[in-house]
Amino acid sequence: MADRKPYVAGNWKMHTTPAEAAKLAQGVVKALECFAACDVALCPPYVCLAAVGDAVRGTSVKLGAQNCHGEIQGAFTGEVSAPMLKAVGVTTVILGHSERRQFFGETDAGVHARLKGVLAEGLEAIVCVGETLEQRQQNITKDVVGHQVRAAFNGFTAAQMATVTVAYEPVWAIGTGLTASPAQAQEVHAFIRGMLIQQFGPDAAAAMRIQYGGSVKPNNAKELFSQPDIDGGLIGGASLKVEDFVAIVKAGA
Ligand code: PGA
Repeated sequence: MADRKPYVAGNWKMHTTPAEAAKLAQGVVKALECFAACDVALCPPYVCLAAVGDAVRGTSVKLGAQNCHGEIQGAFTGEVSAPMLKAVGVTTVILGHSERRQFFGETDAGVHARLKGVLAEGLEAIVCVGETLEQRQQNITKDVVGHQVRAAFNGFTAAQMATVTVAYEPVWAIGTGLTASPAQAQEVHAFIRGMLIQQFGPDAAAAMRIQYGGSVKPNNAKELFSQPDIDGGLIGGASLKVEDFVAIVKAGA
């Protein structure tokens, strides 16, 4: 098995004011002092990036954003670009989260364009894919996820993919308390790894990390993360509590 360092990212979604974000980030940084067995990123709302950036500066904790437009600048009200994020210290960006796809109409083509913008700026990306409950019940999980993976990554090189993490997040498991079983998750992770092998070759695919997301908690993280193709997680609700998030990070070690 490839030697991939586990990677756990906290997706704070639309939670925290800058003051709350600073406190949460400081708590995480303090609890993870001297802990290097797992890569960690914190992805607060845009307005909290500066506060969290201050808290993580000089540590190995990465500052992440939750989205990013593909263009450098322009008449796109409400959007921010990769150079803007880079200028405030962001090094990684979540793209294609199912909430963006579901509630804000983001498409596979849009995710691809955003990824292009992020990689052009030398930032890392966490690209989310995953099926809805209906799609799982229709037995089309692999078709859906396969399509999302192909559409997002088509045209990129193996070298570019070195800074990309995939997050498999079954939509039915996000924020619902329902978690994919380790076997269910591993099956899709192995499928995604197989697609990456086809697209980018075995070496690049073996080096890429695939996170699991969807109701990861301290009590289920270890079993999920110990699956051969699960390389850590993208954590929503449980990333808002220092103890829970830190326990999940440590489960990745
Ligand atoms: P959850 O969210 O951990 O609250 O289920 C995960 C995500 O949406 O990234």
